Amino acid sequence: MTSHTPVKLGRRLSQLNSILERQYSIIWDCCCDHGLLGMSLLQRKLADKVVFVDILSPQMALLEKDLQRRFSGDEFNWQVMCQDVKDLEVPEVESQLFIIAGVGGNKTIQFINSLCTALPALPFDLLICSVHGNYAVRNALIKQGFGLKQEQIIFENNRFYEAIYVSQNSQEPIIATGNSMWDGLNPAHHEYWQKTLDHYRKKASADPAEFQSIVDDYEGLLITD
Ligand SMILES: C[S@@+](CC[C@H](N)C(=O)[O-])C[C@H]1O[C@@H](n2cnc3c(N)ncnc32)[C@H](O)[C@@H]1O
Repeated sequence: MTSHTPVKLGRRLSQLNSILERQYSIIWDCCCDHGLLGMSLLQRKLADKVVFVDILSPQMALLEKDLQRRFSGDEFNWQVMCQDVKDLEVPEVESQLFIIAGVGGNKTIQFINSLCTALPALPFDLLICSVHGNYAVRNALIKQGFGLKQEQIIFENNRFYEAIYVSQNSQEPIIATGNSMWDGLNPAHHEYWQKTLDHYRKKASADPAEFQSIVDDYEGLLITD
C-alpha cells in the first residue's frame, strides 16, 4: 500500500471524514487506535500536520511503522504520540482541530475540558463522536463556549452515533438534544429518538430529579410517535 491507496474507512469514520472540508494547521486524531481517520485526512492534505495520539503503546508502535511505510517523504507531516489525551500539551497555534471519536461520554467530556485548559487563549475546533452520553457531552461543549458547525446522526453496525462538529469561533447555539441533525421523516432517526427517549424514561423513573428534564427535552423535539 502507498500514500495513493485510499484509506478504507467504515461508515462511521467515512461520515466523519466527509464532514471535514476546511484546512487546518494541525489536526489531532485523539484516541486514534489504528489511525485510519487521521491517515485519510493526511492523504487529503487537510492539515499542515496530523498528530496521532493514543495511550496504547504497542498499537502506536504499529501505527508509526504503518505511517512510515505509507506516508514517508517531505510531502506528509505527521507525528505519533503515545500518551493520555488528558495530559496533552498543545502548541499555541491558530487553526487546530481535535478529533475525539470512539470513547465514552465521560472520557470525551474529560478531554474537552482538558483541551480547553491546555489552550485557553486560542479558539479551536472539535469533531466529537462519542459512543454514548451525547446529551452530557453537548452540555459540556455549551459550558466551554463552543458553537455548532455541523451535526449528523450516524448508523453503523446496528448502533447510532452523533457526529458533533463545533468551534469556539461559531456563534450557532448547540442544543443538548441535537437540533438540525434530526429528520422527522427518516425512520432511522425516529428509531434513534425513540431509543434515546426510552433510555432516559427508564432513568427518570428511578431518579426523576436528575433525568425528567432530559426526557422533557427529547419529548419536545419535533419527532412524534
Ligand atoms: C475504540 S478506539 C477508537 C478509535 C477511533 N478513534 C475510532 O473512532 O474508530 C478507542 C481508543 O481510545 C484509546 N484511549 C482510551 N483512553 C485514552 C486516553 N485517556 N488517552 C489516549 N487514548 C485513549 C484506546 O487506547 C483506544 O485505542
